[in-house]
Amino acid sequence: MTNQRALARIDLAALRANVAALRAKAPGAAFMAVVKADAYGHGMVPCARAALEAGAGWLGVATPEEALAVRAAGIGPEQARVLCWLWTPGGPWRECVEADVDVTVSAQWALAEAVAAARAAGRPARVQLKIDAGLGRNGAQPAQWPALTAAARAAEKAGLIQVTGVWAHFSCADEPGHPSIARELAVFRWAVEQAADAGLEPEVRHIANSPGTLTLPESHFDLVRPGVAMYGISPVPQVGGPADFGLRPVMTLAARLASVKSVPGGHGVSYGHHYVTPGPTTLALIPVGYGDGVPRHASGAGPVLVAGKWRTVAGRVAMDQFVVDLGGDAAAAGDEALLFGPGDRGEPTAEDWARACGTIAYEIVTRIGPRVPRVYDGCA
Ligand SMILES: Cc1ncc(COP(=O)(O)O)c(C=O)c1O
Repeated sequence: MTNQRALARIDLAALRANVAALRAKAPGAAFMAVVKADAYGHGMVPCARAALEAGAGWLGVATPEEALAVRAAGIGPEQARVLCWLWTPGGPWRECVEADVDVTVSAQWALAEAVAAARAAGRPARVQLKIDAGLGRNGAQPAQWPALTAAARAAEKAGLIQVTGVWAHFSCADEPGHPSIARELAVFRWAVEQAADAGLEPEVRHIANSPGTLTLPESHFDLVRPGVAMYGISPVPQVGGPADFGLRPVMTLAARLASVKSVPGGHGVSYGHHYVTPGPTTLALIPVGYGDGVPRHASGAGPVLVAGKWRTVAGRVAMDQFVVDLGGDAAAAGDEALLFGPGDRGEPTAEDWARACGTIAYEIVTRIGPRVPRVYDGCA
């Protein structure tokens, strides 16, 4: 590592290989690389470009601001279709129509906003209709679906919108065999048929996230929409790790020791003294904390590779730093500490951190904040 305090290495060659592995699982489907939330903390624009190089044709984001940032970075409509799905009234509908972004509509108010944006922009809005197949978040309820598809078809006939997609999102695809999976697929199939009966001819029908892409071929339809698996994290850790699916973790989080010192036994460590040295020992200070996205829930639990061994966070994670007990092993200020990575050098993985913190690996990588510089390896 360089002389930086901390950094997140992003292995774009691994990301491209992960996209290839996922595409091979769904060979008949188009590929939407989900790059919302700064590509799950990995950096939206470099990851979007790497996914496109590996054959993705679509980029998926949550907010319109993310969609506009993709376009502002110079990723034009000839390089990628962009779908965004989390709207509020008064959002930048017109800007998105003008930027050739496909917008998601789950309700009549959103259809009205898309139509108004199309009128203002002087061009049809590309609209994807979303059904709530059972997740209970966004998406039209099945009872509202026939009215929504009818209104969308009327707007399409008037030349104001083009319905490019019909889609849904699973609730429990990460629990193979969960009864909701078959139920939600049935609702989705009904919604697709109903849209066709309404006269709509969407270009893509899609429901598969990472677990769907990897474990449910019947969910692939015209397009798959993986996020976490593209970053080399297993969406079903209870079934298999990344290597079992031909994936490799993309982010490695490293820091350099800010202090190594000998202390006597009985020395309290960090706020609240939740750790007290059991005897004379060496303490190493890792200069990252919850201000960098290291969860405070990792206090007394998070694993770190320092001086050739896994150590456990001693006491509380603070805003900028935490301590590990080296048990008398030798180390020096400036030495590398590996919080997580692919595991090749014996370091923990994001999944290990997730288990230690009672969360999911999605959150571990996504929460690494802007204070940690990203360094991109494997640029094409
Ligand atoms: C609508 C939608 N599609 C796809 C994804 C990708 O999910 P995953 O990261 O599990 O592949 C997400 C992520 O939460 C999402 O919100």
